[in-house]
Amino acid sequence: MILVTGGAGFIGGNFVLDWLDVQDEPVVNLDLLTYAGNLETLNRVADHPHYQFVQGDIGDSALVSRLLAEHQPRAIINFAAESHVDRSITGPEDFIQTNIVGTFRLLEATRAYWSRLSDHDRAAFRFLHVSTDEVYGSLDKTAPAFTETHRYEPNSPYSASKAASDHLVRAYHHTYGLPVLTTNCSNNYGPYHFPEKLIPLCIHNALTGQPLPIYGDGQQIRDWLYVKDHCSAIRRVLEAGSLGEVYNVGGWNEKANLEVVKTLCAILDEEQPRADGLSYATQISFVKDRPGHDRRYAIDASKLERELGWKPAETFESGIRKTVRWYLANPDWVAHITSGAYRDWTNKQYGL
Ligand code: NAD
Ligand code: TYD
Repeated sequence: MILVTGGAGFIGGNFVLDWLDVQDEPVVNLDLLTYAGNLETLNRVADHPHYQFVQGDIGDSALVSRLLAEHQPRAIINFAAESHVDRSITGPEDFIQTNIVGTFRLLEATRAYWSRLSDHDRAAFRFLHVSTDEVYGSLDKTAPAFTETHRYEPNSPYSASKAASDHLVRAYHHTYGLPVLTTNCSNNYGPYHFPEKLIPLCIHNALTGQPLPIYGDGQQIRDWLYVKDHCSAIRRVLEAGSLGEVYNVGGWNEKANLEVVKTLCAILDEEQPRADGLSYATQISFVKDRPGHDRRYAIDASKLERELGWKPAETFESGIRKTVRWYLANPDWVAHITSGAYRDWTNKQYGL
C-alpha cells in the first residue's frame, strides 16, 4: 500500500480519487484537516475497501511511526503543506511548522522505518515529495523557463518553507540514501480547489455577485496545469523516476492573471449568463498588489517528457472549461466551505 499525506486537500484529494480509480492498491490518507482539508472531497471513496483516513499531523512522530509499522507502505507521497502565499505573508509560523519541521519529522520517521525493511523492500521503497515551481523565484518576461537545475531563489515565506523542505529531502537521499523523488509543479487548477486561490475564488465571487480581485496590474504570469495532469505525473514519477532526481511538472500554459480571469468570465457568460445580461467581466476589480509579488513563473517540463514519457492531457482551454463546469455542478461542495473561517479570511484579505 501507499501512504499519502495531505490527501484531504486540493491536489492530494484529487490524487487519492484518481489513485483508487486507476490502481488496485490500498491507500492510507494522513491529513491534519486544517482549514484547507475537506473530507467531503473524498465522499465518493469513504467506504472504498482500499481507502483509509487517519486524522493527524505529519509532525507527530509517534503517530507517523505507528502508521508506518502498522501499514508497511511501499511508498509515501507527501502533499501535506500550508500552501497559500497570501496566508504565508500574514502568518508565516504555520508554514515553518508544517512545511519545514513537519517534513523533517516525516523524513526522520520514514528513515527509521525504511532502515528496518528487508533488503528487497528497502530497495523498492520510495518517498515522493510534492513541491512547487515557486522555489525557483521570479523570472523576467523573456528569460527561459525553470529547469531542474535553476537556482533556488524563493521570495515568499511559503516558497522559502517549501525550498527548505526540498533541501531536507535532498539531504536525506545524499546523507542516508533514502530513496527520494521530488516533483516541482506549476500552478494547479481543477475540481475541489479551495476558493482562496485565484481561479476558484473568481468563479465563486462571480457567481455570488462579488468583485473579482486582481492584484496590481494583473500582468503577473503563471504556468497553469490541470490537477488531474499533475496527479498522472506523480504516478509516473513514482513508477519510473530515478532515485534522488527532481522532475519539473508543468502545462506549457503561461498566462497573465488578467487573461485567466477574463477567460473564466467568458466561459461563465456562456455557461451561466448573468440575469442582467452583463458580462461577469464587469465584476473585475483591481486591488492592492501582494507584497513581494513574483512577476513570472514558467516551467520547462521537458525532462519529464523525455525521460518518463509524461505529457499533460489537457490544454488550458479544455481544462478551464471542465473546471468551470465542475464548480457549476457542485455548488454544495463550495457552499459548505465558504462559511465561518473562510469568511474571516476573505474579510481580512479583501475587506469584503
Ligand atoms: P492544500 O492547501 O489544498 O492542501 C493541503 C492539505 O494538507 C490539507 O488537506 C491540510 O489539511 C493538510 N495539512 C496541512 N498541514 C498538515 C500537517 N501538519 N499534517 C498533515 N496534513 C496537513 O494544498 P494543495 O494545493 O493541495 O497542495 C498540495 C501540495 O502540492 C503542497 O505541498 C503544495 O506545496 C504543492 N503544490 C501545490 C500547487 C498548487 O497550485 N496548489 C502547485 C505545486 C505544488
Ligand atoms: P494563487 O492562486 O494564490 O497562487 P500562487 O500565488 O501560488 O501563484 O495566485 C495566482 C496568481 O493570482 C498570483 O499571481 C496572485 C494572483 N491573485 C490575484 O490577482 N488575486 C487574488 O485574489 C488571488 C488569490 C491571487
